[in-house]
Amino acid sequence: MEHDVRQFDGENTGDTGEIIKQLTFLNTQEGLQQCMDDEDFYLDIVSTFVEDNVLEDMQTCYLGNDWSGYRVKVHALKSSSAYIGAEELRAKAKRMEDAAKQEDVEYINMNHHHLVAMYEDLLRNITAVLPKRINLEASSQIKQFTIFVVDDSRLNRQVVVEVLSNTYNIEEAASGQEFFQQLEEGILPDLVLLDVHMPRENGHDIIGKLKADERYVHIPVVFMTHDNDLSTELQGFKEGAVDFITKPLNPALLMARINRILDLYYLQSKLQEEIQIRTQAILDKTQQMTIMFEEIIQALANTIDAKDKYTKGHSDRVSKYSVMIGKQLGYTEMQLLRLKYAALLHDIGKIGIPDGIINKTGPLTDEEFEMVKTHPVIGGDILKTITSVKDIYDGAMYHHEHYDGSGYPEGLYGKGIPEIARIINVADSYDAMTSHRSYRGMLTQEKVRSELEKGLGSQFDPIIGSIMLQIIDDDFGFTLHE
Ligand SMILES: [Fe+2]
Repeated sequence: MEHDVRQFDGENTGDTGEIIKQLTFLNTQEGLQQCMDDEDFYLDIVSTFVEDNVLEDMQTCYLGNDWSGYRVKVHALKSSSAYIGAEELRAKAKRMEDAAKQEDVEYINMNHHHLVAMYEDLLRNITAVLPKRINLEASSQIKQFTIFVVDDSRLNRQVVVEVLSNTYNIEEAASGQEFFQQLEEGILPDLVLLDVHMPRENGHDIIGKLKADERYVHIPVVFMTHDNDLSTELQGFKEGAVDFITKPLNPALLMARINRILDLYYLQSKLQEEIQIRTQAILDKTQQMTIMFEEIIQALANTIDAKDKYTKGHSDRVSKYSVMIGKQLGYTEMQLLRLKYAALLHDIGKIGIPDGIINKTGPLTDEEFEMVKTHPVIGGDILKTITSVKDIYDGAMYHHEHYDGSGYPEGLYGKGIPEIARIINVADSYDAMTSHRSYRGMLTQEKVRSELEKGLGSQFDPIIGSIMLQIIDDDFGFTLHE
């Protein structure tokens, strides 16, 4: 249907009030309210109502008995009528929508022609009053965000453009197909305003596709719906929508909601990005510090081993065996790390024992042996300042304590000896027996095993000692030695 529309001088806005007064068949007060009392805006909407009418589509559906299509069309008519304040037509369209929903064909047949006549009358009446509008250029300010409005109703899209285009870049699509085509062409919106009810792909289908695509999954989607019911909203939220806006769109509300969502969403993602950057920086620093810490401990362990020419690599091996035991005890990564450091430094007190005694080839005198026995206390003294990892102190101080209380320096016994020291004691003894010494060669695996077994409950914690026995039994080729 062709409508005669007169040319309108866009700058001559003084006429708008007069024109609106002539629209006596509309509730213009209601319509203006929807348009923030902006008369130009309202006339734009009314003129779109005429240009974008669904009369033909409605007829086609009616004649083809396509009731779901008919429902979509009368639904669109209902909402566009509400926008412009065409109350009677809106009420009539609503009754027809309900009938189409229930496929009440009898009711539709009885009322369709009346609806068409009302609709045509209204279009004619508006056309008689309304001059053609000229779209004014949107403001040229820099717009940071792009909003994509996907709606089969041009009128709805136009409301969005009118309300938001001064603040945001607006892209439009009348269908899911058109929308995805534009995304493929490279438009990446910051927010999608999505109509729920559309022919072919509806809003649920579209959001499903968006959320399944990693390129678009992060874009916030706001549903526009007439269904003011909880189940549609719940379904929408489940599908990943961030908010709902009910139609007919209230301009002030639309603007406020969109602003809030963009603020919140992008502030949040910026914050997350910032947190990620800072966390990474801390992790990098921590990793550097850990590496440095390990290097220092390793250097100290090397210093101890360098002093004793007969026990080269002793600290490394004790550390290795201790960690093997710790793993069998179910230690966490962090516990294993502390055990490793403690074992590496267990003999640090030997620094305080004269070289002549440490490297003596013959047997030690009682006096010399008493001096050697002071190395745990010297070690404890050196390490007592490391309070953040107490295990390191415990390892050095108590690794010569015996399970039955016969060890030194304090004669602690049983579980009174820190576990870490009980582990190091077993590992230390194992390495002593499997290393070459100035006064003897390396013992056989069998001999080592029987010595350890003998010491269960006396020198060694029986559980930890048994774990070491198991490690020996698993070491078929006797590979664990100096
Ligand atoms: Fe020692």
